[in-house]
Amino acid sequence: MKWIISNHKMNLTKKEIENYVDQISTLKSSNELVFCPSSIYLPYFQNQVNYSLGAQNVADRNMGALTGEIAIQQLKSLNVKYVIVGHSERRNILNETEEMINQKVKLILENAMVPVLCIGEKEEEINDRENILMNEIDSAFTNQVNLDQVIIAYEPIWAIGTGKIPTTEEITTITQMIKDYVHKKYQIFCRVLYGGSVSINNIDELNQVPNIDGYLIGGTSLDIEKLRVIIEKMEEEV
Ligand code: 13P
Repeated sequence: MKWIISNHKMNLTKKEIENYVDQISTLKSSNELVFCPSSIYLPYFQNQVNYSLGAQNVADRNMGALTGEIAIQQLKSLNVKYVIVGHSERRNILNETEEMINQKVKLILENAMVPVLCIGEKEEEINDRENILMNEIDSAFTNQVNLDQVIIAYEPIWAIGTGKIPTTEEITTITQMIKDYVHKKYQIFCRVLYGGSVSINNIDELNQVPNIDGYLIGGTSLDIEKLRVIIEKMEEEV
């Protein structure tokens, strides 16, 4: 089974999300479909017959006094199963630190939910890519238990929203590097997704990557018909 995780980011209005939710029931997949809408729309996604629900973020501490944040306990009460953590937009635009990411992973695991840990290098860091990725994994994984639940999403920052993707050979090599590293150091078999400009134009090419466990999809996932194409093309791979 593979994972097809839609990350809506900060998109779609109330009317648009209502239309979107109406169409989800027409999607059929033997893979795990996950939707991560803006958190204000999580209550619209409660009919989880053919999909699971994910959140784009969670607070780095338990429920209580923290204006504007959303606690893991609140997400859990809305049947959220997956939580994206460490997305490069939060790391770089909102200055989210490695310590915060580590805390978030801890809270997600403690609540028996699945962290989708995003890691990735900037364009100017490509030559140092392996170190960057290993450091991001180590900071998130330090002092954690039950790490076997974690999903890692390799999202090269230069590929997000740009239409550029690494070659299939590069993705194969990096995915294997991540899996081998995590297995050796943490004794777990980690699932690794690819994210960054996944589209109906490159999905055939991406599906050639033998060791990838699925995709984390931004822009393309906002259009149900495009998402349907991706889901169907992945069905051919099952
Ligand atoms: P795009 O698919 O829009 O490039 O976004 C990828 C991403 O950041 C998913 O988390």
